[in-house]
Amino acid sequence: MKIEEFTLERIQSLYENTVEYNLSDSGVHPYSLRELLTPEQQSQVLDVELGYGWTNGRTELRQAIANLHPNRTPEHVMVTNGSAEANFILVMSLLEPGDELVVFVPNYLQIWGWARAIGVTVKEVLLREELGWTPDLDDVRKAVTSRTKMMTICNPNNPTGAVLSRETMDGLVGIAREHGIYLHADEVYKGAELDQDEPPSFADLYEKAIVTNGLSKAMALPGLRIGWLVGPVEEIYTSWQRKDYTSITTGAVSEFVAEIAVQPAKRQEILSRSKRILRENLALLQRWVDANGDLFSFVPPKAGGMAFIRYAMSMNSTDLVHRLREERGVMLLPGDVYGMDRYIRIGIGAPAHHLEAGLERLAAFVRAQAT
Ligand SMILES: Cc1ncc(COP(=O)(O)O)c(C=O)c1O
Repeated sequence: MKIEEFTLERIQSLYENTVEYNLSDSGVHPYSLRELLTPEQQSQVLDVELGYGWTNGRTELRQAIANLHPNRTPEHVMVTNGSAEANFILVMSLLEPGDELVVFVPNYLQIWGWARAIGVTVKEVLLREELGWTPDLDDVRKAVTSRTKMMTICNPNNPTGAVLSRETMDGLVGIAREHGIYLHADEVYKGAELDQDEPPSFADLYEKAIVTNGLSKAMALPGLRIGWLVGPVEEIYTSWQRKDYTSITTGAVSEFVAEIAVQPAKRQEILSRSKRILRENLALLQRWVDANGDLFSFVPPKAGGMAFIRYAMSMNSTDLVHRLREERGVMLLPGDVYGMDRYIRIGIGAPAHHLEAGLERLAAFVRAQAT
């Protein structure tokens, strides 16, 4: 089986831990266990038995995740190692060679890559910048055929931070229902909306919806490596059968901490911290874009930990990112990893002084090229 390199993750794996200012992350500055847990909970961690546990996730954790949705039980939930494993298992459970999959782009290209690798025909529908990086439903209708098995969308979106309106969500559900196809949504950035209420989950709008979620992004706990799928009982059971072939279980310590994090009051506390950090940093970024308006422009993100920024110079985005890292010690992601040159992705979840210093160096670098 051939698979295209996942350039977004490859670039990060190679450089993000050694660069001086890493602005390539899409999540929020992570918690430590000490910051997250009460002293009592910290001492309880020491008593967690390091056994295998349940291959689809501890029942109590699946119940707590089910409680985030109306009318769901643990049978509608499978816990995974990060939402990355949830997405992988989704592809391996529900798609087969010859199926068609509609993917909205720009997007985190993991499902796109795995689907192509196993012989699924991937049809791309553009998220339109002029529509605030949301889809035109007529484009979606044109892309769906009798062979389409599933549509997959990332909401809130990676890399643009766009959030679909309720009207567009209902429109997508209407198209999926009309064709009897699955609607998958990766909702790992949900809950980090900056100036609006949290939108509903697709899982609560459509009987054939399956959602990926997890603790890495809006919830600022990527090191726990906890993600999950929520969907119809039968499809969740099928994905559980695949899980036996991947990682068997998630870590016992991670599941213990995850169960604390997804309780409603704790979840809101975590999301408030995320939104505070992101709002402050977005204001800082907006001031920087305003001050450098001859070079950069963007549609401000409505959620999540990143902004997708268009730049005016003619340099290729991968060249720009590598030179910026090598010459100025700042790491961003190039639009190229999304198939969109002349854009860069800047993480806004880092500590403010870090973001400020990185942005200053980016502007100085770009101005030096122009002279
Ligand atoms: C949209 C989306 N889904 C899934 C993942 C994988 O995240 P994790 O496995 O840490 O939950 C990422 C990581 O960047 C992402 O952006």
